[in-house]
Amino acid sequence: QNGNKAGGKTVEVIVKDDAGIPDTTRRLAQELVVNDKVVALAGFGITPSALATAPIATQSKTPMVVMAAATSAITAASPYVVRTSFTLPQAAVGLAEWATKNKIGKVVTLVADYGPGNDAEKYFAERMTLNGGKVLDKLRTPLRSPDFAPVLQKVRDAAPDALFVFLPSGQGAQFMKQFGERGLDKAGIRLIATGDVTDDDQLNDMGDVALGVVSSHHYSAAHDSPANKKFVAAFEAANKFRPNFMAVGGYDGMRVIYNALNASKGARGEALLNAMKGQLFESPRGPVLIDAQTRDIVQDIYIRKVE
Ligand code: PHB
Repeated sequence: QNGNKAGGKTVEVIVKDDAGIPDTTRRLAQELVVNDKVVALAGFGITPSALATAPIATQSKTPMVVMAAATSAITAASPYVVRTSFTLPQAAVGLAEWATKNKIGKVVTLVADYGPGNDAEKYFAERMTLNGGKVLDKLRTPLRSPDFAPVLQKVRDAAPDALFVFLPSGQGAQFMKQFGERGLDKAGIRLIATGDVTDDDQLNDMGDVALGVVSSHHYSAAHDSPANKKFVAAFEAANKFRPNFMAVGGYDGMRVIYNALNASKGARGEALLNAMKGQLFESPRGPVLIDAQTRDIVQDIYIRKVE
């Protein structure tokens, strides 16, 4: 959209695939800093990859833009981290408020057992309890190769008003299938989730079991604004699939880097980082702020329903 010049410099984007392996993320980041002398590191699909790389950002004074990972503690791992994705507490607290207002009193939580899942469980359960609700059980599945059958049986036996779920993007379709196959929807257990579970990119493959699922997130491809309509059309034309929350995190992350390069006249290190802090702009998701103190993103959370 903006050509390849920013802050008087020619921009080159170097793309590496870490395959979601934190040791690989760290090694690639080290090479990019030392050999390619990059001005910024960006991406970080999962929390362990972001945490493994944060010390490199600190040591080399390289701004590190976290576009996807969403555990709240990541921004505290290095003063050079800036986040354009979201945090699980943002999504989970909003959904707990909605649940209370919609007569959901008894819940079971089910999360992937690592950083973002632990955040989601803690903040959702805390807010439900504060609002007078009851958390009957807290269930966790492993990040790699989860088997949902045993936990879904426990949910069925507990018979809550609703099951709250966080799973990282990519696991939602398999989970939904098993939720339907085991008849939990027919048993009257409502499914509520963070938007990772009803990922825009996978929603069409989930079948009718997804209908009516209420989720909370910072982005939806259906978000009704001129900025989003333009983004979705351009993204689909370029990639032939629907943008999801990962897409908007990447898009806004590149915008933050681009704006900072222009504002700092092509600076590196701390000066480039400082130009990222406090940026305020309209994203396809809505208005956002990069908080200057925490370097985290401030944004609206939407309650969405699959139709
Ligand atoms: C992560 O921080 O590891 C993470 C969070 C949300 C997702 C996927 C990964 O949907």
